[in-house]
Amino acid sequence: MHTNIDTLFANLWQDYLAITPSAQKVHQLLGETAGQSELVNDHVAFRTFNIDKINLDKLAAHFIALGYEEKGQYNFEQKKLIAKHFEHADTTKPKVFISELIVEAFSESVQAIIQKMVTNIEPNAAAQDDFLYSGTHWQVSSEDYDTLLEASEYAAWMAAWGFRANHFTVSVNHLQHFQVLADVNQQLKEAGFVLNTSGGEIKGGPEVHLAQSSTMADHIEVQFSDTKKQIPSCFYEFAQRYKMPDGNMYQGFVAASADKIFESTNAKTM
Ligand code: NI
Repeated sequence: MHTNIDTLFANLWQDYLAITPSAQKVHQLLGETAGQSELVNDHVAFRTFNIDKINLDKLAAHFIALGYEEKGQYNFEQKKLIAKHFEHADTTKPKVFISELIVEAFSESVQAIIQKMVTNIEPNAAAQDDFLYSGTHWQVSSEDYDTLLEASEYAAWMAAWGFRANHFTVSVNHLQHFQVLADVNQQLKEAGFVLNTSGGEIKGGPEVHLAQSSTMADHIEVQFSDTKKQIPSCFYEFAQRYKMPDGNMYQGFVAASADKIFESTNAKTM
């Protein structure tokens, strides 16, 4: 387990940048336009399977050991996912959003591919310091990737990328020169970024106390066991939070919005 939150996030960020070259450009664009060198991170998201060895709880354990607490649970029935979010008492630390795929809800052939991948993982791997950015512990064929993609874009992403940050999130509230998410989106589009338009460019809004948008994932070449393929890697998200009637800033997530954000790694819209 990591002993320092900032070191963990710095390592996650370096791993994410290596396969998400556009993230650096987003950082420069918003950081420089906003007149600040460091952007504030609203949350970082992770994906996994609900198989004991590497399930949501195993990923969460790294954050709980660093003082994070579970604060919310979410269900994504159509995508066959559940998720939890975690917060630190030090609110300057990013929130953490971890989801897991309900493997048994899929066909035998899909389950077999996933089980084979997970069987390859060393029994204690999930407890290692670097597990959260350890990538894949297996190699799948492009055919297996395509089989997973037909059933679940999420499963295919996991097969290709494994354990790492799926996205980082700019806190729009902390940008000095932008008031609203729509202006951030406009700046991104003018700079040539492609935004996820599933469910609209902006998901949510003041009425649910959270507005979110995201870029579409970069496309990176991956070496499968048989061939190389250009596929979606990671994306960048932007979140604007609003105060609740009690005066406190909303810190949770909105399932209907997150459902659409998941589609930022959709290979079918390439
Ligand atoms: Ni997110």
